[in-house]
This record gives sequence, C-alpha cells and structure tokens, in this order.
Amino acid sequence: MTILKQDATVYNDTVVRQFAIMTVVWGVVGMLVGVIIAAQLAWPELNFGIPWLSYGRLRPLHTNAVIFAFGGCGLFASAYYVVQRTSQVRLFAGPLASFTFWGWQLVIVLAAITLPLGYTSGKEYAELEWPIDILIALVWVAFAVVFFGTVGTRKVRHIYVANWFFGAFIIAVALLHIVNSAAIPAGLLKSYSAYAGVQDAMIQWWYGHNAVGFFLTAGFLGMMYYFIPKQAERPVYSYRLSIVHFWALIFTYMWAGPHHLHYTALPDWTQSVGMLFSLILLAPSWGGMINGIMTLSGAWHKLRDDPILRFLIVSLSFYGMSTFEGPMMSIKTVNALSHYTDWTIGHVHSGALGWVGLVTMGSMYYLIPRLFGQKQMFSVKAIEVHFWVSTIGIVIYIAAMWIAGVMQGLMWRSVDADGTLTYTFVESVKATYPFYVLRLFGGLLYLAGMVLMLWNVVKTALAGRVEPVRIPNVAAAHA
Ligand code: HEM
Ligand code: HEM
Repeated sequence: MTILKQDATVYNDTVVRQFAIMTVVWGVVGMLVGVIIAAQLAWPELNFGIPWLSYGRLRPLHTNAVIFAFGGCGLFASAYYVVQRTSQVRLFAGPLASFTFWGWQLVIVLAAITLPLGYTSGKEYAELEWPIDILIALVWVAFAVVFFGTVGTRKVRHIYVANWFFGAFIIAVALLHIVNSAAIPAGLLKSYSAYAGVQDAMIQWWYGHNAVGFFLTAGFLGMMYYFIPKQAERPVYSYRLSIVHFWALIFTYMWAGPHHLHYTALPDWTQSVGMLFSLILLAPSWGGMINGIMTLSGAWHKLRDDPILRFLIVSLSFYGMSTFEGPMMSIKTVNALSHYTDWTIGHVHSGALGWVGLVTMGSMYYLIPRLFGQKQMFSVKAIEVHFWVSTIGIVIYIAAMWIAGVMQGLMWRSVDADGTLTYTFVESVKATYPFYVLRLFGGLLYLAGMVLMLWNVVKTALAGRVEPVRIPNVAAAHA
C-alpha cells in the first residue's frame, strides 16, 4: 500500500476520497444547523436559554459549515480529481495534499468549537479568530502549491478551462483571506481589525462579495466545466466562450462589492461603481450558464433518465436565476426595498441551495462510485428521490423568503397620510411568521435529501473496493 501511495503511475485518489466523503458529512451537519436556526426564527424559545445554542452563535456556525466545510471539501475533492485527470499526472507533493485535508478538518472542528462559545471577530463569513485564520492561510498556501505544482508538472500541453477557474478561486481566496483577516491580536481568541470605520466595511464587503464570486462561484464553475461534459459525454458547447467567460467574470467580480453597502457612509460614487459592475456581471454569468446548459445540445434526452445530469443542469438554472436577481438587487432603488429583508435570504439560498448545493451533489454522485471502483451509486433510485426532494425544498424555501422579503420591505416603507408609519416593526415580524414555518419545511426537505445521499454514499463505499487508477500514458497516446 505504501508503495502504491508513492507510485507516480497512479493517481492520488486517497485525498480526493477523504474530501468527497467529508463533503457529504459536513453537508448534513451544516444543513442541520440551518434547520435549527430556521426553527429558532419561528420559535425563538428553541435556544432553551443556553448561550451556545443561541441564534447569534449558531448562525455563523451554519454559514461556516455549509460554505467552508461542505462547499470547501467539495471544491478540494473536485479540484484534486480534475487537475490530475486533465494534467495526466499524479498530484504534486502528496504529503502536502494530505496536510490540506487534515488541516482543513482541524479548521472546521475549531470553528465548530469556538463559534458556539462566542469567539468571533464579528466579520461576516470571516468570523474565526486570528490563530485559526493563520491555520487557514497555511492550508491555503499548501493547496496552491499542490494545485499549481500539479499543473506545472502536467503531461498535456493545454491547461483545461476548469483548471483556470480552480486556479483563480485558489489565488483570489488567498488574497481575500489574508487582506481581510489582518488584525491586531489582543489575546489568544480576541483581535481587532487592522482597518477602521468605513474602510473596514469596504474591505469586509470586497471580501464578502468576492467570497461569493470566487469561493461560491468560480470554484463551482470549475466543477461545472468538468463534470457536465463528462456526465453528458459531450464536449463543452463553446470552448472559446468558456475563455471569454473566465476573463470577464474574474475581472468584473472584483469591483462589485460596494453593492452590499448602499446608502451607507461609503462615498456615493463608490456605491454607483459597485452597482454598475454588478449590472455588467449579468453578462459573463449568463454566458457561462448558457455554455454549460448548451453542452447538452443533441443530448437533451439524457435528462429524462439521468438524475446526476439533472442535478448538474438544474443547478445551472438556479445559477442563472440568482445571477439575474443579484444585479437587479444591486440597483440602488431596488436595494432600498430588499436590503435588511428576507429577500436577501431568498437570493442567498437560491444561489446556495440551488447552484452551490446541487452542482456539488451532482459532482459527488459522479465522483464517489468511481472513487470506490463502482460503476454507479448503490441506489440510482435514491439519487432520483434526492433530486426531487431537494428541488421541491429549494422552491418552497426561496418562494417563502421572496414573499416575506417584499412584504417586509413594503410594510416598513408604508406611511399614512399624516406621515406616520402604517405598521409597527413587530407587526411585520408577526406577518412573517407563516413564511418562517414554510421555510423550515423547505429546509427540512433539503436536509432529508442530504441524509439520503449520506446513506447512499455509505452503502456505495461499503460495497466498493479502493483500487489505484493508472494514469494513461499520454506520450504513447500522442505518438
Ligand atoms: C437545509 C438547508 C438550509 C437551511 C434550512 C438554511 C437556513 C438558513 C437560515 C435560517 C439562515 C439565517 C437567515 C436569517 O438570518 O434571516 C441562513 C443563512 C445563510 N445560509 Fe443557509 N440554510 C440552508 C442551507 C444553506 C447552504 C447549503 C448554504 C451555502 C452553500 C447556505 C448559506 C447561507 C448563508 C450564506 C447565509 C447568510 C445569509 C446572509 O447573511 O444574508 N445555507 N440559512
Ligand atoms: C451576478 C451575480 C450576483 C450579483 C450582482 C449579486 C448581488 C447581490 C446583492 C445586490 C446582494 C444584496 C446586498 C444587500 O442588500 O445587503 C447580494 C447578497 C448576497 N448574495 Fe448575491 N449576487 C450575485 C450572485 C450570487 C450568487 C451566485 C450567490 C451564491 C452562490 C450569492 C450570494 C449572496 C450572499 C451570500 C449574499 C448575502 C450577503 C450578506 O449580506 O451576508 N450571490 N447579492
């Protein structure tokens, strides 16, 4: 086994397997916490008066678990799998790849301990305190060395487009994390941001928006560009468009952050620049979506009986929806209605559950049987059920939040003839209650689908065998 581990003629799939399994495990955990906080919004007494079960502490636990644990492990697994297959070479620096797995799991466990205990830097999606931030930076640099080392030692001349997206995701996240986490420590688990006032807010949302752009989008587009053509057994619809898509997307995302700070102390022109770039962002986003969906040209019939392909293609339609909605919400006058309301939460989850969730699940359903020497998952029927349960769950979740959000926005701005507010704030909270219960139901369906996936994955792994996969001899193939 040790000999095989070092064998340069086989792929390093151990680390891919580890990350793939943990994607599913953390998916269940993160979504369970999502369901708990959704229930707490409907029935606040569900925190039982225990501080570490309070909403304010569990909410960042949810966001960190779903984005960085579930999404992050899915991205590591697919980046490591894809870069080896498209470079026709074993992962560079195997022990370092192992370090990224164990280091990342340690980050997740530390997050799961410190956040409920109330240790937080207070920056959204960057709540972890400075010692954990340093660990994240180390793991990320190791990830970059392994990934780019593999690309650098590739046996094929061309760098496939999926690797461009993974590469941009790795570089941008390193930059965002290191700049936004700069802080002055004031104890082991307490620090103060290196920035102050409006600059702090600007840097935070430059980070926050690009976390969406590079963590929740570019990396998953890398998945999309590999797994859709593979599963559909068709080449990418337009390779030329994929390159235009890449450069346009990564250039535009960087400037859109100020749309999170409309009507704040941020200079007005900066807000307008953010709005403008957000509107432009519609074009590359839809270009990519169309490129992915059109890859099915001539193979549409496969959607009828291939549930994995359905996960992948429906994820793109949610991607299209949320990247249409985002630019609309970035228009200042629209944002005046949507900001602070559950409309934002609806937008977030159409992107998160619909795009990030479904594309990850589809990719893992493709990967897992192959990683365990199987032709397909233990139960294809269960994949089918998972698809429908989660899709119905998403629709219920986001429809409830959209209605609640628009209603809240309209109630808050409604004034009587004498200029007084028509509704008190608490009246809007009361009116939202049924929608919170409905959202909880949608979330429960989504979680149920994820639990079914975990069962299917465990069954597949137990029925399968771990066999090293030989790297095809590219030189011979080209001769
Ligand atoms: C069972 C599934 C899920 C449920 C029930 C759920 C529920 C929730 C709830 C109740 C909130 C807080 C909303 C508020 O403060 O008003 C939230 C926030 C959030 N969730 Fe989820 N969630 C789920 C899955 C996911 C997934 C898979 C992702 C990402 C991949 C995600 C990303 C987020 C983000 C980014 C926020 C913060 C939104 C913001 O601050 O605007 N969630 N979720
Ligand atoms: C063209 C693409 C997109 C644009 C222009 C865009 C724009 C926006 C806007 C204007 C907001 C509301 C800001 C506010 O009022 O506070 C927002 C919030 C958000 N969006 Fe998007 N969005 C896009 C795509 C996506 C996608 C694909 C996802 C998820 C995968 C996503 C995740 C989020 C999250 C998590 C937030 C909440 C941030 C927070 O306040 O905590 N967005 N987006």
